[in-house]
Formats: sequence, C-alpha cells, structure tokens
Amino acid sequence: MTNKYMYFIANWKMYGNLSSLKTLDKVIKFSKSKEIKGGRLIYCPPNTLISSFSKKFKNCQIGIGGQNCHESDVYGAHTGFVNSQMLKNIGAHFVIIGHSENRVKGESDKLINLKIKSALDAKLKVIFCIGETLNEKKKKKTHSILSRQIKIGLKNIKYKSNIFLAYEPVWAIGSGLIPKHQDLFKTVKYIKSKFKDKLPKVLYGGSVNPKNITILREINNIDGFLIGGASQNAKKFIDIVKKTYS
Ligand code: 13P
Repeated sequence: MTNKYMYFIANWKMYGNLSSLKTLDKVIKFSKSKEIKGGRLIYCPPNTLISSFSKKFKNCQIGIGGQNCHESDVYGAHTGFVNSQMLKNIGAHFVIIGHSENRVKGESDKLINLKIKSALDAKLKVIFCIGETLNEKKKKKTHSILSRQIKIGLKNIKYKSNIFLAYEPVWAIGSGLIPKHQDLFKTVKYIKSKFKDKLPKVLYGGSVNPKNITILREINNIDGFLIGGASQNAKKFIDIVKKTYS
C-alpha cells in the first residue's frame, strides 16, 4: 500500500464509442469520493471521443488526453492525422507519445522527439512511452534500449517538468505478464538516474489489473500506472485505484 500521489492513466487504444460514455458515471462518482485518496485519474480515449469525454468530465478532476499526435504544429495536408494543437482545442491536456504499438509501425525515436516538442509547445503534458521487446530483454539490452529511447526522444528538450515517463516493456503489454518486483524497481531506478536535475514521474504499464496491483503497488519508486485493457472496465479501473491505497 502507498500514500503517494499516484497517476492512473487509462489508455483505451482503438476501443470505445458513444455508448461507452455511460460507463464513466461510476468513475466520476468515485473521483468525487474520499476513496480516491491520492489518486489522479486521466483518460486517453480515441480521438473520436475526446470531446465527449471532456464535456462529461466538466465538473470533476478527471484529466483527458490523446493517444498520439502529428509532429507538425500547423495545419497541413496529412490525411488521417491530428496535431497537438487540435487535441488541445477539443479539451485534451495530455498526450501519449511513443507507444510501442506505434513504434512497431515505424515511429522512430527522432520522430517521437519532434512529436514531444510539438506537444509541449501546445502546452500538453506528455506521457512518453519507452520499453524493450522480449528479444531485447533476453539479450540483456533493456538499459541500452531505454537509454537510447530517452536520449533521442528528449533531445534538446530542456524543460522536462511536463513529461511523464511510462515504462512499458513490450512483452508485458496485453500478455498477462509483469516484470519481477526487483527487476521493475531497478529499471525504474535506472530510468530516473538518467535525469540529473529534477526526477521525472515514472509510470509502469503492461497488463496492470486488479489482481497484480497488490504486487505492483509495493514498488515504491513507481508514480502511477498506464492501463490498457483493464481501464475499459470501470469497476476494474476503480478497483486498481482502491487497491493501490488499501
Ligand atoms: P494492457 O494494460 O492491456 O497490457 O496495455 C498496456 C498499454 O499498452 C497501456 O498503454
């Protein structure tokens, strides 16, 4: 159990439609109760729902974010994309950048760097995802991969207060697997050691659920969780928060 101020970020990926809005009532009620303790809830729904979520959360403290953005600050002929200013315009305050599901489709560290810069310029807070694949883990390359992702991803970015790091080992996403307690503690410590002046918030993501949260909450250098599958179920999402603090 922890007493820390913790972030619980729901990444809905490509799930959800207008009928999902009613499932948020429970979460809104929970967010206004004492049970939330030191938890901050943030939803990153698909772009099609950001505006509706934003209206729905008008009178509560739940934050909203996008799941990616284009690297350009200005409007342009980029079919199928939205930029950070557009996300901001419809009510987002956060954006996930560098998710492995996008890296695997060719999003490079360099492109991620440009996206982060444009998001910060638009005054969005960035949830910057990093993580190694199973193959890289087996070859004991976790640290070198994370180091490269951080170095290039944050190149020439001086003001880092609005950046959260989300450590998401690729092999843990959607697999039901989580890293061993000691391994995860050490990796988070390693990530924080890369920052000299002010330590960033480091979140963990990958198969977080109401069962394994009792293990994960004991890792005391983690500042929150980025939750995929379980976050689409209001009860599970609330349970994760409750159990973190119980
Ligand atoms: P799961 O929680 O479904 O494993 O997804 C994790 C994730 O990718 C969050 O960004």
